[in-house]
Amino acid sequence: MSKVTTLNEFIMARQADFPGASGELSRILNDIAVASKIVSRDVRRAGLVDHILGAQGETNIQGEEQQKLDVVADQQFIRVFESGGEVCGIASEENDDFVAFTDEHAKQGKYVVLFDPLDGSSNIDVNVSIGTIFSIYKRKSTRGSLATLEDMLQPGTEQIAAGYVLYGSSTMLVYTTGKGVNGFTLDPSIGEFCLSHPNMRTPETGRLYAMNEGNIDECDQGVKDYIRFCQQVHPDTNKPYSGRYIGSLVADFHRNLIKGGIYIYPATNQSPEGKLRLLYECNPLAMIAEQAGGLATTGANRILDIQPERLHQRVPFFVGSKQMVEKAMACVEAAKSVV
Ligand code: AHG
Ligand code: MN
Ligand code: MN
Repeated sequence: MSKVTTLNEFIMARQADFPGASGELSRILNDIAVASKIVSRDVRRAGLVDHILGAQGETNIQGEEQQKLDVVADQQFIRVFESGGEVCGIASEENDDFVAFTDEHAKQGKYVVLFDPLDGSSNIDVNVSIGTIFSIYKRKSTRGSLATLEDMLQPGTEQIAAGYVLYGSSTMLVYTTGKGVNGFTLDPSIGEFCLSHPNMRTPETGRLYAMNEGNIDECDQGVKDYIRFCQQVHPDTNKPYSGRYIGSLVADFHRNLIKGGIYIYPATNQSPEGKLRLLYECNPLAMIAEQAGGLATTGANRILDIQPERLHQRVPFFVGSKQMVEKAMACVEAAKSVV
């Protein structure tokens, strides 16, 4: 039986990848793992503990009803980041503005973290997989001062690390520091994330497409053309592609990462910039996708190159297997030239 490699052992062993690394990033990744274990415990009890199930009774800046677990998870991650001493500030889906930590120790932190504490939260009450998505940057402001908006509004190419936690049939942590993608599965019997998916690579192509087709009439013609392409009988398999849409981005993304596929949340009449947020949903997943050999674009431009202008800025999101994203982009481009 091969030796189990825990997340901690893996992080320590890979620390050598970063000359001059003094362990701060390792500590942040470990802090994320600790908070994820606590959120995983709460997610697994969501149906039992009344303080968790159901709406918080407030709405967030997105105008979305906050589920109690969204807020519990948000506070859990903020707590570990604020006390860890490596992070000087955060931005999250559940906070209107960014949070600059005021504690002297935290102000010395070299990093900022942007995160979606609970993605797919509309699925909490129906026991469908949900996730956490995170993105780590080096601060641009001077250590010892308060974190600034400029620290938060960096293009995805500047990410030091990115990843997600999937609270599914098992709890998995998948992350990259720019040197490939590795997946860890939580073993509840020992409370450790153990390396289960080393050096993850996504298939060049696939047969799964994930989009909320209820929006199809509100999309641009190019998107309609691509979805029609997916639904045609393809000569190589004599079958159409399969539509698979969970309504939890992390769950749809993770399935496609492993099996090959594409996830599309395009611009619609209702959401002219798309629904998904650049900073803490699209950028981190785009880094993972690219590091695993896939692609992530707006349907036209590379996600990671976008210079953010607002914390909760939305962008259209086409992500997954390289050839499938390229085909979708070709459909979008072709439709533009048809007057
Ligand atoms: P969140 O729960 O963090 O707001 O994210 C939900 C996102 C994403 O997870 C999912 O794929 C998408 O919203 C579903 O949107 P629709 O219900 O409009 O399809
Ligand atoms: Mn989300
Ligand atoms: Mn969310």
